[in-house]
Amino acid sequence: MSVQVKNWSVFFKKNLVLQNIDLEFNGHGIFAVIGPSGCGKTTLLKSINRTAELDNGFNYGGTILLNGEDIYQKNDVASIRRRVGMVFQTPVALPMSVRENVLFGPRYFGEKNKRKLSDICERSLKHAGLWEEVKDKLEQPAGELSGGQKQRLAIARALAAEPEVLLLDEPCSSLDPASTMLIERLLNQLSGMLAIVLVTHNLFQAKRVAQKTVLMMAGQVVEYGPTDQFFSKPLRQETADFISGLTW
Ligand SMILES: Nc1ncnc2c1ncn2[C@@H]1O[C@H](COP(=O)(O)OP(=O)(O)OP(=O)(O)O)[C@@H](O)[C@H]1O
Ligand SMILES: [Mg+2]
Repeated sequence: MSVQVKNWSVFFKKNLVLQNIDLEFNGHGIFAVIGPSGCGKTTLLKSINRTAELDNGFNYGGTILLNGEDIYQKNDVASIRRRVGMVFQTPVALPMSVRENVLFGPRYFGEKNKRKLSDICERSLKHAGLWEEVKDKLEQPAGELSGGQKQRLAIARALAAEPEVLLLDEPCSSLDPASTMLIERLLNQLSGMLAIVLVTHNLFQAKRVAQKTVLMMAGQVVEYGPTDQFFSKPLRQETADFISGLTW
């Protein structure tokens, strides 16, 4: 599994918001993306699953390779979005049952076999660490779940499409410490199966869960390296300042 971002730039109208980004996420594991508000973290994630182009005025330069394939040269955008799942900051529960929330992707892609759908639903909820809590309320509206449960539901929905890469945009920012720990444990388990790119404002979270960490500032990569070294012996002064809280 590999994502290679090469000389990647994004404009919204005339604004350059990502500038010549070179980054690789190789193999399974958790890759943390940190940086000040507005530096382009979300735009980077949305570039990797081809949802950034849904925004007005989007334009790009460079290439993004998914397992060696240039995703911007492919016509089948839906399949890219299936292979690269994304979970947003605010948990989104679609106005339907818990079960249908999980099965949204497989149904969209035409799966009709009831047995298969039911297996996908159970497996995805188990992987998302939510099965025990919702197995008796699969037909209830998903809107009735708690915030932490909705976040895990969003993860289950992404997993149901069997992605190769999972992009998470500040998934814990609205959660309490207990739900945050739950999600972190879950991400740890999932990272054995797929590559996870995690945007977080919580440096402790990056330190706890990520194998590699990247710092972005003003649309550029400042430093990217193994998390241990990144936090203990950063190579760049900007990184040292950022992690010591000087440039928040
Ligand atoms: N659809 C859009 N149209 C125009 N400008 C945009 C659009 N989306 C993002 N931008 C701009 O691109 C820059 C990067 O935004 P982005 O959302 O990627 O930052 P971020 O690092 O995720 O910030 P935060 O930590 O606050 O979520 C910002 O200056 C933002 O205003
Ligand atoms: Mg963002």
